[in-house]
Amino acid sequence: MSEAVLELKSVTKSYNQGRANQIDVLRGIDLTLNAGEMVALVAPSGAGKSTLLHIAGLLDVPDNGSVLVAGQDVSGKGDGMRTSLRRQDVGFVYQFHHLLPEFTALENIVLPQLANGVLQSGAEARAEELLTLVGLADRAGHRPAALSGGEQQRVAFCRALANSPRVLLADEPTGNLDPGTSDQVFAALMDLVAGTGLSALVATHNHELAARMDRRVKLEQGRLVKL
Ligand SMILES: Nc1ncnc2c1ncn2[C@@H]1O[C@H](COP(=O)(O)OP(=O)(O)OP(=O)(O)O)[C@@H](O)[C@H]1O
Ligand SMILES: [Mg+2]
Repeated sequence: MSEAVLELKSVTKSYNQGRANQIDVLRGIDLTLNAGEMVALVAPSGAGKSTLLHIAGLLDVPDNGSVLVAGQDVSGKGDGMRTSLRRQDVGFVYQFHHLLPEFTALENIVLPQLANGVLQSGAEARAEELLTLVGLADRAGHRPAALSGGEQQRVAFCRALANSPRVLLADEPTGNLDPGTSDQVFAALMDLVAGTGLSALVATHNHELAARMDRRVKLEQGRLVKL
């Protein structure tokens, strides 16, 4: 049996905009992500993909249900515990890169490692190794504004993987790119995931990209169905 790296059990989430205006976005999500697996999360806009990924990535808490990362139940744990688990075990990539504009590509990948207690020299070596893997070794000194959209997103992948997480969560990571670049960047992501044995949950509107992953789940009226 494969090892579960991420489990969501009966997760619910509603948003309240006044008592008469409650949106039940997640109505009982059960999801197991096994080691080495790449799963596509597809759903129309507004269905709750980001909500689900933020909860899975410990960036938000569910109303009910539990989230387990590497077998550890995070529900009810304090902020400190959640933050350290998030730093060590979870990588997150957004649709827009969210790189820090005043730092170089290399520094953007070094910083989360320093926050995790890695020494500068080791962190730089790791950043260079990751940049080489995505074909950007020669862009290490560029600030985000001096990188193309596809390059920015590849740096964001490197940043997400800097602390060797167990799971990568990506929220429409190529949604902001033209189709050709999107394909290239997505190929880089698949190589990284395959090369590291990492698990990934990737939200995408792109059915072609979804078809290349190990399996697909769809968010439909607050529940996950197999595709
Ligand atoms: N902080 C919030 N307060 C209130 N409602 C919210 C909040 N965040 C999201 N929502 C609502 O929850 C629903 C799901 O939002 P979510 O961002 O998870 O969708 P999504 O599937 O990621 O959409 P997209 O493809 O457009 O990114 C939407 O109807 C949205 O308006
Ligand atoms: Mg979203």
